[in-house]
Amino acid sequence: MRDTYMDQFRSTWSDEAKQKFRHQPLTVRHNYHEHHAFSDVALAALIERHPRDMIDFCTMGDDATDHDSWRAGDPGALSGLELIEAVRKGKLWINLRHAMDQDPEYRPIYDAMLADMKQADPSFRPLNAEAGILISSPTAQVFLHSDVSETMLWHMRGVKRFRTYPATQPYLNTDDVEAVLHHDKTEDIPFDPAWDKDAFTVDLHPGMAANWPLHGPHRIENQSGVNVSVPFEISTPQSRLQNSILYANGVLRRQFGYVPTETRTDGLGALMKRMLTYTVKLKIKLFGEASRPMPKSEQTFDIDPNAPEGFVNREATA
Ligand SMILES: [Fe+2]
Repeated sequence: MRDTYMDQFRSTWSDEAKQKFRHQPLTVRHNYHEHHAFSDVALAALIERHPRDMIDFCTMGDDATDHDSWRAGDPGALSGLELIEAVRKGKLWINLRHAMDQDPEYRPIYDAMLADMKQADPSFRPLNAEAGILISSPTAQVFLHSDVSETMLWHMRGVKRFRTYPATQPYLNTDDVEAVLHHDKTEDIPFDPAWDKDAFTVDLHPGMAANWPLHGPHRIENQSGVNVSVPFEISTPQSRLQNSILYANGVLRRQFGYVPTETRTDGLGALMKRMLTYTVKLKIKLFGEASRPMPKSEQTFDIDPNAPEGFVNREATA
C-alpha cells in the first residue's frame, strides 16, 4: 500500500507490448493496485456512495457454456463491508458502472491509466472512454462475450484466468456483434470448451493488465481471492468505423432482407454503408427508437453474507 501521490503510479510497457497494443493480445505491468482506493474499506465506502442504479449485483453457475445461469440480485440494506464479505465467501459479481470516470476519488486514477495508454500508442485517440470497477468472488466467472468497444482490463486484487479467442469464425460470428449494435441481444456469445486450445490464456495477478483486439471474444474464470479489476471500454475512430459497417449490415439484413457478408471498412461499399448508418442514426436521433427491455434485469435473489453462496434465492424464501 502506498500513499496517494498519483505520480507514483504508472504502467510499464515493453516495446513488444507497445507494438501489439490493440492488434494482438498482450499484458503489461502496473502498480495502481497498490493505491488504497482498491482496499476493502475504500471500496465499501464507494459501494455506499455510488448511485445504486449504476451498480449490478449478479451471480452465475459453474458451467462456462450456461450463459442463462447469469442473474441479478438485490443487495437490500447491507453495508458496503457486508456486501464485500458476501463476495469473499460466496459466488457474486458486483459491477460499479462508471465508478472510475465519475467518482471524484477514482477519476485521477482513471485519468492516469488513460494517459498511460495514449503514451504507449500515440495513434490511440479515444473519442469516449468509460471504466467501472468489478468486485467478484474467488469462484466467479464471466461468460464468453464480445464487447463493442476497445477494451483494456486492469487487474488489482485476486487472481483471474483470462482467455481471449480470435475475432473470427468459429469463435466470433460478426452477425452477433451486429445484433448487439442493433440492441437485439446482449454481448454474450455461444461458447465451445474445445476452443480453449486456441485461446490466448493468462492468469492475471495484481499489478497486471490485459488488452486484446476489438471484438475479440473473451471469458474469465476467477482463481482465488476477492477479485477487483477495472475494465476500460473505449470508443475510437477505428471502433466507430468498424461498428458503423456492421450496423449498416444489420440495417440491410433487417430492413431490406439482404444477407451481407462483407465487413471491410474500405472501398465504395464501405463508404455507402457508412452513409447508411449515418442516415439511420440521424433518423433515430430525430424521431427516437422503440425501447426494448434488456434481459436478466429481474432480481431473483437477496444477498446474504451468512449464506454459503453469499445469497438466498427468492424462490427459496417465498
Ligand atoms: Fe468484456
